[in-house]
Amino acid sequence: MNDEFQDCPDTPGHVAIIMDGNGRWATRRGLSRLAGHKRGVERVREIVRACPDLGVRWLTLFAFSTENWKRSEAEVNGLMRLFKRYIRKEAAKLVEEGVRVRFIGGRGRLDSELQALMATLETATAGNDRFNLTVAINYGGRDELVRAAAALAEELRAGGSTPCDEAALERHLDTSGLPDPDLVIRTSGEYRVSNFLLWQSAYSEFAFVEKCWPDFTADDFADCLAGYGVRERRFGKAI
Ligand code: FPP
Repeated sequence: MNDEFQDCPDTPGHVAIIMDGNGRWATRRGLSRLAGHKRGVERVREIVRACPDLGVRWLTLFAFSTENWKRSEAEVNGLMRLFKRYIRKEAAKLVEEGVRVRFIGGRGRLDSELQALMATLETATAGNDRFNLTVAINYGGRDELVRAAAALAEELRAGGSTPCDEAALERHLDTSGLPDPDLVIRTSGEYRVSNFLLWQSAYSEFAFVEKCWPDFTADDFADCLAGYGVRERRFGKAI
């Protein structure tokens, strides 16, 4: 656990969201699944804008998992186009609004154009600290842990005095330097973690919301934060 950030105010400093239900939302309306994802991007804009006023300084969004490559080529390509469009359209505003953007997940499988857009946005926002947006693309918790374990093994093999402990592994995670999420929200009435932030959510609170992501508004987000505010977090300690 990242103790540096561990305190328990009523507002979760770091919220992570599994933005589920775009496909069902669209299919129920006779629309293409991609239309659901497009509506999902509008919700991303709305929630990102709402965070600072609500006291949330860190937001992590699960945009594409290591398992999502199993979807149709048309849907995968459509999602990749949406990520590129989002970065191109939002970059200037994110820089201006003091948002620091990071991406987590393995980048090697993404096309070079998207990789370049991601790297440019990370560099352009590296000096910002008003708000932190992390987007998970080609991300899987197990994949991240395997990559981190391999990197730590290499470090240990190369010698040096690194102890093999939690802090050492954490330094090799994609989320190194980020606080653990206080609250993980999943939309669409599904009650699963789906390989998202497996290590980091060890002590997170969870909120499961019935609405699909394209219907999830800033008011719904505020309701989740209010629900978090009345929970008691003990991190394994006795009452
Ligand atoms: C899950 O719904 C959603 C995704 C796999 C994609 C999420 C992407 C976005 C919201 C758009 C872009 C995001 C950013 C950060 C620009 P699903 O398709 O699995 O829905 P279903 O379970 O109803 O099929």
